[in-house]
Amino acid sequence: MNILVIGSGGREHAIGTTLAYSPLVDALFFAPGNAGTAQLGTNIYANNLPAIEDAIEQHKIDLIFFGNEQPLVEGWSDKLVEKGHKVVGCSQYAAQLEGSKSFAKTFMQEFGIPTAAYQVFTAHQYQEGLSYLATQNYPLVLKADGLAGGKGVLICQNLQEAQNGLKEILLDQKFGAAGTEVVIEAFLYGEEASVFAFCDGTNFVLLPAAQDHKRIGEGDTGLNTGGMGTYAPAPIANEVVMQKVIQEVVHPLLNGMKTRGHLYQGILFIGLMIENKMPSVVEFNCRLGDPETQVVLPLLKSDFAELCLKLSESDLQNYQPQFYDNAALCVVMASKGYPENFEKGFPITGLAAADIDGVHIFHAGTHQAENDIILSNSGRVLGVTGVAKSLKEAQEIAYQAVAKIDFSNQYFRRDIGHRAL
Ligand code: AMP
Ligand code: GLY
Repeated sequence: MNILVIGSGGREHAIGTTLAYSPLVDALFFAPGNAGTAQLGTNIYANNLPAIEDAIEQHKIDLIFFGNEQPLVEGWSDKLVEKGHKVVGCSQYAAQLEGSKSFAKTFMQEFGIPTAAYQVFTAHQYQEGLSYLATQNYPLVLKADGLAGGKGVLICQNLQEAQNGLKEILLDQKFGAAGTEVVIEAFLYGEEASVFAFCDGTNFVLLPAAQDHKRIGEGDTGLNTGGMGTYAPAPIANEVVMQKVIQEVVHPLLNGMKTRGHLYQGILFIGLMIENKMPSVVEFNCRLGDPETQVVLPLLKSDFAELCLKLSESDLQNYQPQFYDNAALCVVMASKGYPENFEKGFPITGLAAADIDGVHIFHAGTHQAENDIILSNSGRVLGVTGVAKSLKEAQEIAYQAVAKIDFSNQYFRRDIGHRAL
């Protein structure tokens, strides 16, 4: 079969790499892809739905895999399904779980899914919002309702910070239309983990949980980023926790969608806070995580293309995936200055030398220039994943590979995995 993967990050390179192992796959296409995906298949320039539909026709695509959330929030999956295509990616209705934080919170409240206590306020309710802030305990969390590229969440240490934050979101529209509503929620203590469920509407398959290092600085300090490194399996999400996630989150979510007359058919990303073995949902996303994908997919032993096909055909009922008894750890090599301003366009050297046994080098923001030169092209440039019998060994080989790669203005954290090791 021919598969089209939509997206251009390290996640999409990892998705393509894992699909490429499958005997079911004839050819891979990426829209738009990056320098890494170009080594696995064909990169296509198609950044709107009509262009994607042309590509599907031209390249005889059998399955479309949505890597990132924006097209799902815009309803591309529904349109392709209506035309009889097979897709991995949920409906526009279901994607509101990621696209609107107030939708997600209301849904969780209605179906009893554990999450932080909250209230929603619109710009018209600014004064009520201010009064509410004065009644709360701190720290407190303010979230712009819509998609804000991971930046719309403010952790406020005191009332003053929260008052400023409320003004920025609702009145100053710092996050644009994403901030027409704000979710104000209680701060959750504990350790975070990301769990991925492949859902066919009724049945689901869970991947091993991962832990992401979201902060730019070592010791988990500084600004939030898309993720600076990750590892799996995450010991914090042990068997007891995963059973609770199934009973208290996945089942109620799939049933809740049905109660509302919809199905959750696609990938569900459950962002958890875990304290004393009790999971609470911090967020839902309708896609795989980046960089979490770069550690969970290398652990999958089963045929990934088969799993995707079964999801798209609502046929996961008797599907039992197999996993390697390994650990994986990914170090993100970024451009210094990310997640704010940074320079890019520098040649990357050492990629061949870094291709050591047990290591995967996933391209994120890279660009293939002339003469086989690969340039840094974004904030997050590469994800270097080590896979080994233990997390310690995975960490060792990942950092060995990182040491062989060089580009100007590079930055990476040296402590990925510190919580588990
Ligand atoms: P979100 O986009 O909702 O995942 O939020 C981004 C990050 O903010 C999360 O990964 C957490 O690190 C942090 N965060 C969000 N909500 C809370 C909360 N209620 N309590 C503590 N930390 C939170
Ligand atoms: N790494 C977090 C995310 O993909 O949202």
